[in-house]
Amino acid sequence: MQLSNPHEPTDQQHRTQSENSDQQQSAQRHSKPADEIADAYADVADKLARWRKVDQLFAGRYRRSQFEDATGRVLDVACGTGRNFRYLPSSGEVVGIDISADMLVHAREELERLDLDGTVHQMDAQELGFPDDSFDTVISSFSTCTFPDPIAALHEMERVCTTGGEILLLEHRRSDAAPLAWVQDWRAESHYEKNGCRLDHEPLETVQRAGLPVGNASTAFFGLVTAIDATPR
Ligand SMILES: C[S@@+](CC[C@H](N)C(=O)[O-])C[C@H]1O[C@@H](n2cnc3c(N)ncnc32)[C@H](O)[C@@H]1O
Repeated sequence: MQLSNPHEPTDQQHRTQSENSDQQQSAQRHSKPADEIADAYADVADKLARWRKVDQLFAGRYRRSQFEDATGRVLDVACGTGRNFRYLPSSGEVVGIDISADMLVHAREELERLDLDGTVHQMDAQELGFPDDSFDTVISSFSTCTFPDPIAALHEMERVCTTGGEILLLEHRRSDAAPLAWVQDWRAESHYEKNGCRLDHEPLETVQRAGLPVGNASTAFFGLVTAIDATPR
């Protein structure tokens, strides 16, 4: 994966509360409610599970590179059908959460298939039902594009992660390649309406707006994929 600029805490973190609140309200105005997102994923859960091998072929290397060193007790937020599970160290405990019960059926099967020590729970990423400091590593992939309020979800990831722990994200983003970015912009509105996924979002900006210190950020595959390592404050 090609490494781009490392991101130290920036002046974004010094934004006033009202600026942040304006941005959050704007994000929410353009968002579907969580139950509609859950319905959208219920419709495609079986198909996504069938495409497991295709995902391994195209996204497997990015998932492995971002998550293979996750340590201790790991929370996978919006785990979907459990595609990250096979790339986690088999020695640790994994807990997956997702808003879609239909996606979790496949995540449970994946835990069994891999014989992992883990559980999955239906839960909203914006309101995690775990005490503070419950996990050593919080991971999430291809998810902030779908959360109605991604900043609230990132704050929840921060809350349940121990001080000294890590928040590891793997996300898609608006490409650096102009023709691809043009297609993403063109399809953004209809794709969101159909799938509840923002094709043109910029995850690093969202993480910075949430105020999480970013230790490392890298992009790959024409800038379509980004890996972000953040820490709780
Ligand atoms: C594109 S899928 C990614 C799934 C998985 N992380 C992966 O990499 O294959 C997005 C997932 O986010 C889940 N999701 C969307 N909104 C959510 C929310 N508010 N809380 C928890 N999960 C949510 C969806 O149900 C879906 O499983």
